Amino acid sequence: MYYMRLQTYAMSVSIKSSAQIQKMRIAGQLAARVLEYISPHVQTGIATETLDQLCHRFITEELLAIPAPLNYRGFPKSICTSINHVVCHGIPGQSKLKDGDIINVDITVIKDGYHGDTSMMFLVGNVPARARRLVEITHECLWLAIRMVRPGIRLGDLGQAIQQYAESRNCSVVREYCGHGIGLEFHEEPQVLHYGEAGTGLQLEPGMIFTIEPMINAGKRHVKLLPDNWTVVTRDHSLSAQWEHTILVTDVGHEVLTLRKGETP
Ligand code: MF3
Ligand code: CO
Ligand code: CO
Repeated sequence: MYYMRLQTYAMSVSIKSSAQIQKMRIAGQLAARVLEYISPHVQTGIATETLDQLCHRFITEELLAIPAPLNYRGFPKSICTSINHVVCHGIPGQSKLKDGDIINVDITVIKDGYHGDTSMMFLVGNVPARARRLVEITHECLWLAIRMVRPGIRLGDLGQAIQQYAESRNCSVVREYCGHGIGLEFHEEPQVLHYGEAGTGLQLEPGMIFTIEPMINAGKRHVKLLPDNWTVVTRDHSLSAQWEHTILVTDVGHEVLTLRKGETP
């Protein structure tokens, strides 16, 4: 997810050609396959750096693709792993998953120059009901926004819908990070805020491709950056969850480019 910047100039949002869309479909499918591949490994006792190593090998040797996070603005690993009160950009390391943890695994691959970006939550062992509830609310935030995507709708409509749903359930929306356009670049225009006002913002057009990736906290919305300059955590140490898909705006609606096997739109 992208660190939000002030918008000073008119946004230049690229409209992908059908040839580019075809390449984005492939990149998206490969990113989804990495999540399918890693799922059975996300278990109590595994170190997040082992998850990183497994994904790195799968991406480079099986998919013949590039893990986009590695060395991106100095990020040291090939995937992001964000546990419990970590909001996003968690760096895989030696600490092991514990019974009751919730973890987001965020995968971005580059294939033939194009990026596919997707993340999901995993429940580790026996997870308390309040954490499961947060994970489910966040999943619904992603999907209620995806279902709205079609030409003519505005980005503010998506943000407002996500914010209203999350806050109606006494959760909060992280503001400092957002979804993003994606293509030849990891993070392109537009910024896709997960809060806002209906009827405002960019109007969607066929051929736009962007991520939706709400970060929802069980407590207050405020976040803090750890001294490693990557790991983002909730200020109040409350739990945080996130789900992400890469979405194409089609003539009639949308296509989820990072859909996993068995995941019904
Ligand atoms: N995959 C994240 C996103 O959804 C970005 C991670 S940047 C990294 O936009 F450097 F931390 F990998
Ligand atoms: Co993203
Ligand atoms: Co991502």
